[in-house]
Amino acid sequence: MNQGTFHHLTHPLIQHKLTLMREKDRSTGGFRRLLHEIALLMACELTRDMPTHAVEIETPLEKTTGALIDGGKTVFVVILRAGAGLLDGMLEVVPGARVGHIGLYRDPKTLAAVEYYFKVPEPMNESDAIVLDPMLATGHSAAAAVTRLKAAKPRSIRFACLLAAPVGLAHFHSLHPEVPVTTCAIDRELNDHGYILPGLGDAGDRIFGTQ
Ligand code: URA
Repeated sequence: MNQGTFHHLTHPLIQHKLTLMREKDRSTGGFRRLLHEIALLMACELTRDMPTHAVEIETPLEKTTGALIDGGKTVFVVILRAGAGLLDGMLEVVPGARVGHIGLYRDPKTLAAVEYYFKVPEPMNESDAIVLDPMLATGHSAAAAVTRLKAAKPRSIRFACLLAAPVGLAHFHSLHPEVPVTTCAIDRELNDHGYILPGLGDAGDRIFGTQ
Protein backbone atom coordinates (compact mmCIF):
# COMPACT_ATOMS: atom_id res chain seq x y z
CA MET A 1 0.00 0.00 0.00
CA ASN A 2 1.19 3.51 -0.78
CA GLN A 3 1.83 5.43 2.42
CA GLY A 4 0.18 8.82 2.07
CA THR A 5 0.17 11.50 4.73
CA PHE A 6 -2.86 11.97 6.89
CA HIS A 7 -3.54 14.30 9.78
CA HIS A 8 -5.93 13.13 12.46
CA LEU A 9 -7.41 16.15 14.25
CA THR A 10 -7.72 15.02 17.85
CA HIS A 11 -8.52 18.42 19.39
CA PRO A 12 -11.05 17.84 22.21
CA LEU A 13 -13.40 20.53 20.85
CA ILE A 14 -13.55 18.79 17.47
CA GLN A 15 -14.05 15.36 19.05
CA HIS A 16 -16.80 16.69 21.34
CA LYS A 17 -18.71 18.28 18.46
CA LEU A 18 -18.24 15.22 16.27
CA THR A 19 -19.71 12.97 18.97
CA LEU A 20 -22.79 15.21 19.16
CA MET A 21 -23.12 15.14 15.37
CA ARG A 22 -23.04 11.36 15.22
CA GLU A 23 -26.12 11.01 17.45
CA LYS A 24 -29.08 9.86 15.36
CA ASP A 25 -31.59 12.19 17.03
CA ARG A 26 -29.59 15.38 16.38
CA SER A 27 -31.81 17.84 14.50
CA THR A 28 -30.91 19.07 11.02
CA GLY A 29 -30.23 22.54 12.41
CA GLY A 30 -28.10 21.16 15.23
CA PHE A 31 -26.14 18.93 12.84
CA ARG A 32 -25.48 21.83 10.49
CA ARG A 33 -24.39 24.15 13.30
CA LEU A 34 -21.95 21.58 14.68
CA LEU A 35 -20.54 20.95 11.19
CA HIS A 36 -20.08 24.70 10.79
CA GLU A 37 -18.24 24.91 14.12
CA ILE A 38 -16.00 21.95 13.26
CA ALA A 39 -15.22 23.52 9.87
CA LEU A 40 -13.98 26.67 11.66
CA LEU A 41 -11.64 24.60 13.79
CA MET A 42 -10.50 22.49 10.83
CA ALA A 43 -9.75 25.60 8.79
CA CYS A 44 -7.17 26.70 11.36
CA GLU A 45 -5.34 23.37 10.98
CA LEU A 46 -5.71 23.21 7.20
CA THR A 47 -4.16 26.63 6.76
CA ARG A 48 -1.29 26.09 9.21
CA ASP A 49 1.33 26.18 6.42
CA MET A 50 -0.22 29.05 4.48
CA PRO A 51 2.47 31.37 3.13
CA THR A 52 2.61 34.84 4.67
CA HIS A 53 4.34 38.00 3.58
CA ALA A 54 5.81 40.75 5.75
CA VAL A 55 4.13 44.16 5.86
CA GLU A 56 5.06 47.41 7.57
CA ILE A 57 2.25 48.72 9.78
CA GLU A 58 1.86 51.42 12.36
CA THR A 59 0.32 50.67 15.75
CA PRO A 60 -0.92 53.61 17.88
CA LEU A 61 2.57 53.57 19.45
CA GLU A 62 5.13 52.79 16.74
CA LYS A 63 5.94 51.24 13.41
CA THR A 64 6.37 47.47 13.27
CA THR A 65 6.41 44.55 10.87
CA GLY A 66 3.50 42.12 10.67
CA ALA A 67 2.58 39.05 8.64
CA LEU A 68 -0.36 38.83 6.25
CA ILE A 69 -1.72 35.93 4.23
CA ASP A 70 -3.07 36.21 0.72
CA GLY A 71 -6.45 34.55 1.20
CA GLY A 72 -7.08 34.68 -2.55
CA LYS A 73 -4.47 31.97 -3.09
CA THR A 74 -6.65 29.46 -1.23
CA VAL A 75 -9.37 27.72 -3.21
CA PHE A 76 -11.90 25.58 -1.35
CA VAL A 77 -13.13 22.92 -3.74
CA VAL A 78 -16.49 21.52 -2.70
CA ILE A 79 -17.47 18.00 -3.74
CA LEU A 80 -21.23 18.21 -4.30
CA ARG A 81 -23.33 18.00 -2.41
CA ALA A 82 -22.22 17.21 1.16
CA GLY A 83 -18.96 19.16 0.81
CA ALA A 84 -21.06 22.34 0.81
CA GLY A 85 -21.76 21.77 4.50
CA LEU A 86 -18.12 22.51 5.35
CA LEU A 87 -17.79 25.60 3.17
CA ASP A 88 -19.31 28.42 5.26
CA GLY A 89 -17.17 27.64 8.29
CA MET A 90 -14.03 27.58 6.16
CA LEU A 91 -14.94 30.90 4.50
CA GLU A 92 -15.53 32.51 7.87
CA VAL A 93 -11.86 31.88 8.69
CA VAL A 94 -10.49 32.59 5.18
CA PRO A 95 -12.97 35.13 3.78
CA GLY A 96 -10.79 35.97 0.79
CA ALA A 97 -10.67 32.36 -0.43
CA ARG A 98 -12.18 31.45 -3.77
CA VAL A 99 -14.45 28.46 -4.31
CA GLY A 100 -14.67 25.66 -6.86
CA HIS A 101 -17.28 22.92 -7.24
CA ILE A 102 -17.03 19.36 -8.49
CA GLY A 103 -20.10 17.21 -9.12
CA LEU A 104 -19.70 13.47 -9.71
CA TYR A 105 -22.11 10.57 -9.81
CA ARG A 106 -21.46 6.87 -9.89
CA ASP A 107 -22.47 5.08 -13.08
CA PRO A 108 -24.67 2.22 -11.82
CA LYS A 109 -23.35 -0.20 -14.46
CA THR A 110 -19.62 0.50 -14.55
CA LEU A 111 -19.42 2.03 -11.01
CA ALA A 112 -17.05 4.61 -12.51
CA ALA A 113 -17.28 8.20 -11.25
CA VAL A 114 -18.83 10.40 -13.95
CA GLU A 115 -18.40 14.16 -13.84
CA TYR A 116 -21.57 16.28 -14.23
CA TYR A 117 -20.18 19.62 -13.02
CA PHE A 118 -16.73 21.17 -12.76
CA LYS A 119 -16.00 24.82 -12.13
CA VAL A 120 -12.90 26.21 -10.44
CA PRO A 121 -11.42 29.70 -10.49
CA GLU A 122 -8.87 29.94 -13.29
CA PRO A 123 -5.94 30.02 -13.43
CA MET A 124 -5.15 27.63 -10.59
CA ASN A 125 -1.37 27.47 -10.99
CA GLU A 126 -0.72 29.78 -8.00
CA SER A 127 -3.56 28.41 -5.88
CA ASP A 128 -3.55 26.02 -2.96
CA ALA A 129 -6.65 23.82 -3.28
CA ILE A 130 -8.39 22.33 -0.25
CA VAL A 131 -10.94 19.72 -1.34
CA LEU A 132 -13.93 19.38 0.99
CA ASP A 133 -16.13 16.33 1.51
CA PRO A 134 -17.31 15.23 4.97
CA MET A 135 -17.11 11.49 4.23
CA LEU A 136 -14.15 9.58 2.78
CA ALA A 137 -15.93 6.23 2.45
CA THR A 138 -14.81 4.08 -0.52
CA GLY A 139 -12.54 6.94 -1.57
CA HIS A 140 -13.64 6.58 -5.20
CA SER A 141 -15.32 9.96 -5.62
CA ALA A 142 -12.63 11.73 -3.58
CA ALA A 143 -9.91 10.19 -5.74
CA ALA A 144 -11.81 10.96 -8.97
CA ALA A 145 -12.35 14.57 -7.86
CA VAL A 146 -8.65 15.02 -7.13
CA THR A 147 -7.69 13.42 -10.47
CA ARG A 148 -9.97 15.94 -12.22
CA LEU A 149 -8.66 18.83 -10.15
CA LYS A 150 -5.05 17.94 -10.97
CA ALA A 151 -5.84 18.68 -14.64
CA ALA A 152 -6.39 22.33 -13.58
CA LYS A 153 -2.80 22.29 -12.16
CA PRO A 154 -3.18 23.94 -8.73
CA ARG A 155 0.07 24.66 -6.86
CA SER A 156 -0.93 22.24 -4.10
CA ILE A 157 -3.86 20.02 -3.14
CA ARG A 158 -5.02 18.73 0.21
CA PHE A 159 -8.17 16.83 1.09
CA ALA A 160 -10.30 17.49 4.19
CA CYS A 161 -13.03 15.30 5.62
CA LEU A 162 -14.82 14.66 8.86
CA LEU A 163 -14.74 10.85 8.82
CA ALA A 164 -12.53 8.47 6.87
CA ALA A 165 -12.82 4.69 6.47
CA PRO A 166 -9.47 2.84 6.38
CA VAL A 167 -10.33 1.29 3.01
CA GLY A 168 -11.17 4.71 1.56
CA LEU A 169 -7.98 6.24 2.88
CA ALA A 170 -5.96 3.38 1.36
CA HIS A 171 -7.70 3.69 -2.01
CA PHE A 172 -7.27 7.46 -2.07
CA HIS A 173 -3.58 7.28 -1.23
CA SER A 174 -2.95 4.47 -3.70
CA LEU A 175 -3.87 6.97 -6.43
CA HIS A 176 -2.75 10.23 -4.80
CA PRO A 177 0.03 9.40 -2.31
CA GLU A 178 1.28 13.00 -2.31
CA VAL A 179 -2.08 14.55 -1.33
CA PRO A 180 -2.37 14.92 2.45
CA VAL A 181 -5.71 13.97 4.00
CA THR A 182 -6.96 15.77 7.09
CA THR A 183 -9.69 13.95 9.01
CA CYS A 184 -11.39 14.29 12.38
CA ALA A 185 -11.82 10.52 12.81
CA ILE A 186 -10.87 7.22 11.22
CA ASP A 187 -13.84 4.90 11.65
CA ARG A 188 -13.92 1.10 11.65
CA GLU A 189 -15.23 -0.03 8.26
CA LEU A 190 -17.87 0.28 5.53
CA ASN A 191 -21.15 -1.62 5.51
CA ASP A 192 -22.49 -3.41 2.41
CA HIS A 193 -24.01 -0.15 1.13
CA GLY A 194 -20.77 1.78 1.41
CA TYR A 195 -21.74 3.66 4.59
CA ILE A 196 -19.09 4.33 7.20
CA LEU A 197 -19.46 2.46 10.52
CA PRO A 198 -20.06 3.70 13.15
CA GLY A 199 -20.29 6.85 11.03
CA LEU A 200 -23.02 9.44 11.15
CA GLY A 201 -25.33 8.30 8.35
CA ASP A 202 -25.78 10.08 5.05
CA ALA A 203 -24.01 13.40 5.49
CA GLY A 204 -25.89 15.12 2.65
CA ASP A 205 -29.27 14.06 4.00
CA ARG A 206 -28.37 15.16 7.50
CA ILE A 207 -27.06 18.56 6.35
CA PHE A 208 -29.97 19.33 4.05
CA GLY A 209 -32.77 17.51 5.89
CA THR A 210 -33.62 15.42 2.84
CA GLN A 211 -34.10 12.10 4.58
N1 URA B 1 -21.46 9.10 2.38
C1 URA B 1 -22.17 9.44 3.46
O1 URA B 1 -22.85 10.46 3.47
N2 URA B 1 -22.11 8.66 4.55
C2 URA B 1 -21.38 7.53 4.60
O2 URA B 1 -21.35 6.85 5.63
C3 URA B 1 -20.64 7.19 3.44
C4 URA B 1 -20.69 7.98 2.34
